[in-house]
Amino acid sequence: MAKTIGILTGGGDCPGLNAVIRAVVREADVAGWECVGILEGWRGLVDGSFRDLALRDVSGILPRGGTILGTSRTNPFNLDGGVEKLLTNLRARDLDAVVAIGGEDTLGVAARLHREHQVPVVGVPKTIDNDLSGTDYTFGFDTAVSIATEAIDRLHTTAESHNRVMVVEVMGRHAGWIAVMSGIAGGADVILIPEQPVDYDEVAGGLRKRHARGKNFSIVVASEGTELPGVADDGEVDQFGHVTLSKRGVGDVLAREIEQRTGFETRVTVLGHIQRGGTPTARDRVLATRFGLKAAELAIAGEFGQMAALRGDDIVAVSLDEATAKLKTVPPEWYAVAQAFFG
Ligand code: F6P
Repeated sequence: MAKTIGILTGGGDCPGLNAVIRAVVREADVAGWECVGILEGWRGLVDGSFRDLALRDVSGILPRGGTILGTSRTNPFNLDGGVEKLLTNLRARDLDAVVAIGGEDTLGVAARLHREHQVPVVGVPKTIDNDLSGTDYTFGFDTAVSIATEAIDRLHTTAESHNRVMVVEVMGRHAGWIAVMSGIAGGADVILIPEQPVDYDEVAGGLRKRHARGKNFSIVVASEGTELPGVADDGEVDQFGHVTLSKRGVGDVLAREIEQRTGFETRVTVLGHIQRGGTPTARDRVLATRFGLKAAELAIAGEFGQMAALRGDDIVAVSLDEATAKLKTVPPEWYAVAQAFFG
């Protein structure tokens, strides 16, 4: 009987997921293996929800955003009997390997399942946040940065025409990668990220200085996870213990503080899920495809507990434990590149 790889996508959807699924199925087929889709992340393995994944099922999906398998933020370790059900379904469906495509949370579960229960799993690093260690870049990030950069370009016209400060809130969770990269690419005048402390007076002072030298508008890019003085979260968390950062309202708070301190008319745009939507960039399609091929290769070779990763221009295997041990946040050197253009 042909051996089988189960494929799942977990966490937030992300441009490039379908490109990975396609690549895994194509590579498996060459080796005479079959593939099965596990629906809605780890939930599908806990509930036993599967769908066939033959070559015809992955035809035409390369440029499609989202995931044909559905996704969820299910943590089997947080469900009553979740891990036992997952292990039972893994055996019942005769899965010889699982390719888990996800970020910190989904791959954290993969690492633990491998470590504690010897689940034959291989990881693929997905997230628009680019906050996974062990890989230079995750797929989805380039698309999100491109979308945010285009938004900043568009907001420039209104900022200039109306003499306004435009605050743009971008995603990224506890890492400021999207803010820093889109801010540099879009020519932001101030960029605020979770890794750097915020001083409202300093921000306002910088903007006043800029306006004093003849500029009548400014663009401020702020990451949703930026720690703002005097702002507390409401305590609501998901199955992985993450607070819903969109509720922090970073953009709105900043706009209010800036307007009060400078007197400049200020507006806020929250980009939200637009950053995750639609077709992946060419770069993300290529990266996702290379990750998918590597993941299938590792699964077929029985090299479990590993994750496909980008190091320089090479796709390599790194341990899932290493990749999920800590978040990859923005180092001061990167922030300094952004800062060189503030004000
Ligand atoms: O991890 C990807 C991400 O888009 C984060 O940038 C953001 O904080 C979070 O997911 C939003 O999650 P949800 O789609 O559940 O609102």
